Amino acid sequence: MQQDPSSMLRSLCSMPPTVGSSQIALQRGLLGDLVFITSLLRPLAQRFAIISDTCVASLYGEALAASLAAESLAVALLTFPTGERQKTRATKERLEDQLLDLGYGSDSCIIALGGGVVTDLAGFLAATYCRGLPLVLIPTSLMAMVDASIGGKTAVNTPHGKNMVGALHAPRWILIDPALLATLPLRERRAGMVELIKHGLIASADLFALLEREGESLLMGQPQLLDQAIWESSLLKSAIVAGEELRPGSRHLLNFGHTIGHALECATHYALSHGEAVAFGLLVESYLACAAGLLPPAEATRIYRLLSPYLPPHTPTCSLAALLEAMALDKKAAGGRPRFVLIEGIGSACSFDGRYCTPLDEALIRDGLAWGWEQCAQANKQFS
Ligand SMILES: NC(=O)c1ccc[n+]([C@@H]2O[C@H](COP(=O)([O-])OP(=O)(O)OC[C@H]3O[C@@H](n4cnc5c(N)ncnc54)[C@H](O)[C@@H]3O)[C@@H](O)[C@H]2O)c1
Ligand SMILES: [Zn+2]
Repeated sequence: MQQDPSSMLRSLCSMPPTVGSSQIALQRGLLGDLVFITSLLRPLAQRFAIISDTCVASLYGEALAASLAAESLAVALLTFPTGERQKTRATKERLEDQLLDLGYGSDSCIIALGGGVVTDLAGFLAATYCRGLPLVLIPTSLMAMVDASIGGKTAVNTPHGKNMVGALHAPRWILIDPALLATLPLRERRAGMVELIKHGLIASADLFALLEREGESLLMGQPQLLDQAIWESSLLKSAIVAGEELRPGSRHLLNFGHTIGHALECATHYALSHGEAVAFGLLVESYLACAAGLLPPAEATRIYRLLSPYLPPHTPTCSLAALLEAMALDKKAAGGRPRFVLIEGIGSACSFDGRYCTPLDEALIRDGLAWGWEQCAQANKQFS
């Protein structure tokens, strides 16, 4: 496998058999390489549906649909309004009805073009439409490039919680064109940085150190660094997903920061971005690991320092009770008790008798959340 992203074209990465087999291609300008794109699409289906949100559709979707049509591919562009609140069963149903009206059948392929909301929702649609269609993901946000597009997880939210209804459905191709990030707003780039930090924390001290050294350049879109970080992160996530075969439950590692992060998103009705909520989750779950005597305080301090600029821009307005209730619904919860992924050092997660998550005393969780609120308030004073 070619490892250098600057010279690396269409590198292949095998995904685990449990979620099928996906190939990742990363190249600046990839979306304009129609010879390559049509050559990989043609064998997949007779017709293609590009699914995108309205923002990404106007930036890239309409042009892509026109280019594919000009290459004689049968293609439709379907859109839904932008935002996490649209990641619902209702949106999925509307899109399915449109496809049915267009007469799309099992000879079709879904192309998800957008951020994590689009890849999750269109991926779930592909998993169930005609009992499963081939799926191609073209992630356009940093979050989707480094995380959401990798691993085959698809889902929609319900009023009861994040990602509560979904399926594992591996895309055939994940086409990453980092040049698309040029139009991504800063708030969204910051959200993607948070998942990069998470990958560093659970699996790569080197990635974490790169983020400490070069975080600002990465955020500003320095091309070589950005391509390298996206590539490393997608390989890390692929490896963790693949490891599930050997060590069941190891996929839970990817949920570090998310027991609290998802609960915070849900309890604030998605007023915060996924990245902001997860930054808070990573902060507090690192605190919990430190308080439990697992994570050395010096490493915890480095983590707090790196995360501070990514915390929610205002102290979240939800009650502690609402947060605890949402946590009890987390998919890792057992017997109504939330379980947490904990780290024992930067780049290394704890195993609890072969499991990668553990329940904690509610008093400790409450203490951690109160401490997290306080850190948020201080960071907001510092960075406002
Ligand atoms: N399936 C997984 O394994 C997984 C992993 C991580 C996150 N996720 C999910 O991903 C979602 C968050 O993803 P996200 O942060 O990408 O949110 P998003 O899809 O809402 O995108 C964020 C915003 O950026 C805009 N955008 C996207 N690409 C753009 C571009 N190139 N230029 C300009 N604007 C652009 C979108 O229109 C949107 O307004 C959450 O629902 C989360 O649960 C899933
Ligand atoms: Zn996430």
